[in-house]
Amino acid sequence: MSTILETKDLTKKFGDFTANDKINLTVEEGEIKAIVGENGAGKSTLMNMLYRQIPPTSGEIFLRGKPIEFQSPRDAIQHGIGMVHQHFMLVPSFKVYENILLGTEIPDAKLRFLVDSKKEQQECAELVKKYGFDLDVNEVVENLSVGQQQKIEILKMLYRNVDILILDEPTSVLTPQEVDELLLQLKELKAQGKTIILITHKLREVMEVSDSVTVIKKGQIIGNVKTSETNEAELAQMMVGRKVLLTVQNDHSVQESPETIYTVRDLTTNNTYGNVVVDHVSFEIRKGEIYGIAGVEGNGQSELVKLLSGMMEATGGTVHYKGEDITNLWANELRSIGIAIIPEDRYAQGLCKEMTLSANSIAGSTRSDAFKKNGVYDSKKIREHCQKLIDRYEIRIADFDGTVSQLSGGNAQKLIIAREMRSQPDFLIASQPTRGVDIGAIEFIHQQILDFRNRGGAVLLISSELSEVMSLSDRIGVMYKGKILGEVDPLETSETQIGLLMAGAVPQEVV
Ligand SMILES: Nc1ncnc2c1ncn2[C@@H]1O[C@H](COP(=O)(O)OP(=O)(O)OP(=O)(O)O)[C@@H](O)[C@H]1O
Ligand SMILES: [Mg+2]
Repeated sequence: MSTILETKDLTKKFGDFTANDKINLTVEEGEIKAIVGENGAGKSTLMNMLYRQIPPTSGEIFLRGKPIEFQSPRDAIQHGIGMVHQHFMLVPSFKVYENILLGTEIPDAKLRFLVDSKKEQQECAELVKKYGFDLDVNEVVENLSVGQQQKIEILKMLYRNVDILILDEPTSVLTPQEVDELLLQLKELKAQGKTIILITHKLREVMEVSDSVTVIKKGQIIGNVKTSETNEAELAQMMVGRKVLLTVQNDHSVQESPETIYTVRDLTTNNTYGNVVVDHVSFEIRKGEIYGIAGVEGNGQSELVKLLSGMMEATGGTVHYKGEDITNLWANELRSIGIAIIPEDRYAQGLCKEMTLSANSIAGSTRSDAFKKNGVYDSKKIREHCQKLIDRYEIRIADFDGTVSQLSGGNAQKLIIAREMRSQPDFLIASQPTRGVDIGAIEFIHQQILDFRNRGGAVLLISSELSEVMSLSDRIGVMYKGKILGEVDPLETSETQIGLLMAGAVPQEVV
């Protein structure tokens, strides 16, 4: 094997903050290189420099031994380096093949101002076949799942014939099945001679597909290991600097005189196409209880959370909280009565990217008097509040007065969780609470949720990580095609049994 990509003392500063500090990274041709590290360690920054999306402050990058001189992602692609970002950049109303080709349309041989769409479709279909992707090139993108959209992003790069493919947390929004499929595809790409750089927080994925691992901490490389010579626990320890509990377990201690705090009855709604997506859903949650919702993504969980957190309207059914009808209340009204919400999409629903950290730290409680003095905002109080959240949740920031858009993905998520937990709710709706956060932070967040329960708080937990639902919940409702198909006790159920319910099979005893 020969070295395909190398960096020498690569450094990136944002103002006084050093995000990458003299990074010497070596990537061998044809390998799958995993990059791991805590939130804010500098992984995305490093990749953005390799892809020339941002310029380095100092240092050099060598491609096949030669220093690279190109300046933009477009040049990087021409030199064979492609990147798939965590947030996709597809045009939803376009077809799959149109998205793959975007910017490289094939002109008609005779009428050169026209596009030869037949040839385009054919070429894309061949590409899909060559790499064994299961995708219809004529389908419109907005009808596809996240996993399928990710495939298009990868195909876009393959169409442009890149040799090195950088993937920044490609699996954090995928269902477990889609993850397995993607991992297989990465192995296939490697077999075809591609070099892959994979950023992920999931150590199982690292162990399963990578050849070597580079660990980054606070902007520096702190270790390079061969995957065959390490294990999950060792990697976790390297990343976090201490032993990490890979699962925090609910002890299921029984709460006294369980009082129902939250009741959902026959809740129903349609999507914009008029299809029923939440179908007569009913459940109850008691004080001091974590009610988990499991299900294959796309079975109505996202819509259910939106309904319950005031972001979508119910067409039928009711929701009661502490005896009061709260059906179809807005998010701010829910917050004012003691319900905290951790939404699924942190940028679209949880944060305002262009506002400061402190402004975001009080979002949702702007009407409360806690941050006011004589009726006006007290910026000192707000800043102190924000600093507390940052300290307690170890949110890594470059600049206290910067905007949320400057936070790394995981740190943005931590800011939402910190804000919501700090509002001292009685009831917490947590949707995908640990998506994109590092393993040390997952342990911490899980512990926070359990402590909240043990203090008598009630929690609705929705997660596509079955292990998360299993280890935290007191009871689990399994959703399938918009309905809750069955309710199970995690202590008496195996992952396989839940898996069956998730696939729509109804065992007799839970009917
Ligand atoms: N444009 C920017 N301006 C200021 N600071 C920035 C900017 N981009 C990144 N940073 C800071 O640089 C640090 C590294 O961020 P980066 O996104 O590389 O982290 P990461 O390792 O990818 O983390 P995560 O796992 O959370 O995605 C963070 O502290 C972040 O706040
Ligand atoms: Mg990142």
